[in-house]
Amino acid sequence: LQVNDELAGKKVVITAGGTVSPLDPVRYLGNRSSGKMGLALANAALTAGAKVVFIVGHVSVPIPESSKMTVIHVETTEEMLAAVKKAFSTADALIMAAAVADYEPVNYIDHKIKKQDQGDKLKIYLKETPDILKTMGSLKQEQQVVVGFAAETNDLLENATKKLKNKNANMIVANNVSQGVFGSDKDKVTVLRKDKANENIAETTKVEIAKKIITLVAEELESRKVIK
Ligand code: C5P
Repeated sequence: LQVNDELAGKKVVITAGGTVSPLDPVRYLGNRSSGKMGLALANAALTAGAKVVFIVGHVSVPIPESSKMTVIHVETTEEMLAAVKKAFSTADALIMAAAVADYEPVNYIDHKIKKQDQGDKLKIYLKETPDILKTMGSLKQEQQVVVGFAAETNDLLENATKKLKNKNANMIVANNVSQGVFGSDKDKVTVLRKDKANENIAETTKVEIAKKIITLVAEELESRKVIK
């Protein structure tokens, strides 16, 4: 493994995998996510010399151990928010690659819901979970860099541009998820940044895309140093 020093001395918080919203003790609502992109980002950040805090929900890939990486396992969106908030307060960058569950049941049922009590339909009322990226975007200091993902099936660039602004992120990585990228080793993305031209990364492995994103994060951090 070739080590570079793009992020030497930096602390990067990376989220990966899906968070889940429990419905009862045995059931939950969740998002599709293999965790592959998040894991590729964590490896790229480690290779670039960063200290990594890796906050993971449900993933289908094994998580490697590294003396430079702290791994925090979470289940729910609220747990991920709390872990991100704590880690990001002393970090240089946050990359939100997690597929965060956007809704959770209004009421958690503390016993297993029995089919025979429900008839053939079960009504579940959902409420929004906190938006972690947006919360961190509003809390970030001038020198901190926040990166989000926009997985869209329609109007990719339009939605990603809105996300960059609404969530006060420094960078949004937009990918079209209508073409079956879930669980795939490959992807094709467009990186959006404020006041900068969009950068298209042609179809390649998630490992290569992650390296490129880490280089762009390092550039963002470097440009802040120059301004100060
Ligand atoms: O709004 P949307 O879910 O499309 O935004 C995607 C980005 O926001 C991703 O980076 C995801 O990790 C993050 N997100 C979040 N908290 C949520 C929902 C999404 O941090 N509740």
